[in-house]
Amino acid sequence: MTVSTRAAAFTRTRRTRASAAMRGLVRETHLDPAQFIYPLFVTHGRGVREPISSMPGQSRLSVDLLAAEARELRDLGIRAVLLFGIPEAKDAVGSEGYASDGIVQQAVRALKDADPELLVVGDVCLCEYTDHGHCGLLLPSGEVDNDGSLPLLARTAVSLAEAGADLIAPSDMMDGRVGAIREVLDGSGFETLPIMAYSAKYASAFYGPFREAADSVPRQGAGDRRGYQMDPANVREALREVAADIAEQADMVMVKPALAYLDVIRAVRESTHLPLAAYNVSGEYAMVKAAAQQGWLDERAVVLETLMAIRRAGADILITYHAKEAARWLREQ
Ligand code: PBG
Repeated sequence: MTVSTRAAAFTRTRRTRASAAMRGLVRETHLDPAQFIYPLFVTHGRGVREPISSMPGQSRLSVDLLAAEARELRDLGIRAVLLFGIPEAKDAVGSEGYASDGIVQQAVRALKDADPELLVVGDVCLCEYTDHGHCGLLLPSGEVDNDGSLPLLARTAVSLAEAGADLIAPSDMMDGRVGAIREVLDGSGFETLPIMAYSAKYASAFYGPFREAADSVPRQGAGDRRGYQMDPANVREALREVAADIAEQADMVMVKPALAYLDVIRAVRESTHLPLAAYNVSGEYAMVKAAAQQGWLDERAVVLETLMAIRRAGADILITYHAKEAARWLREQ
């Protein structure tokens, strides 16, 4: 037998791709429904399942339908939901966001009654509940009142905690909100309740379908959200946001959106040991659904590839509207 010195001249990476078993052995990233969070939109009424036109497959549900939803999620191995509410009435101070019988508070109770082990995440923000559609209070000048909004955000967090939420997720992007929420939760006997901060939340056009779903488009004249959500051009600033939220005792941090921000996910992953969530937002979902409906993409393959990419970038937790379908597909694999 002759041994050629040329044998090592090129690298045969294909050796470890030869079979499904071999590929399974060397796979670096995995998808597990235990790490999915499924967002739910909750609305007033009974027996309401109102499809969201820009998010095919997603609906606004009334509280009485949530027990069945919880059962379906349990069967699929999805153990966490994130709640958004569509209030009956909106006002300047977002009262229904922190009312003890607010729509989300009712939903939290119904879900925890139906399945005490389901992890219920409460989104803390005023935009669904304010008539101007901003995430905080407005000053007479039309500017968003950062510091004046903090007590209301903290009050929202406490009311969600009292309803039974397991994790508080502030998405408003006011400075100091994590610390304000932590302080008020601690003072209300909720020292052990964790906070998942939407730390690097960008002023993104990918939230369009969500704003239709939650009826939370900022009112014309009151401007957009660029004064508090992040500039899509920035990544170092994301690390400042994350560091600030960690200093204020966040237990988990988030990057949002996910797909156009994979580099941000990677940078945040490398900057902290905290659990990291990524939000695969409504516009990302809508794009895949629209192309799939046209027959232009293989939906199943694209969704699983996308979710894997977000995990590979460094996210532990995936918040995604694809959660149920992905869980089904993973089971079939
Ligand atoms: C509320 C909130 C938004 C989203 C989650 N929480 C909308 C926004 O900030 O305008 C977007 C989620 C999605 O697009 O799926 N502040």
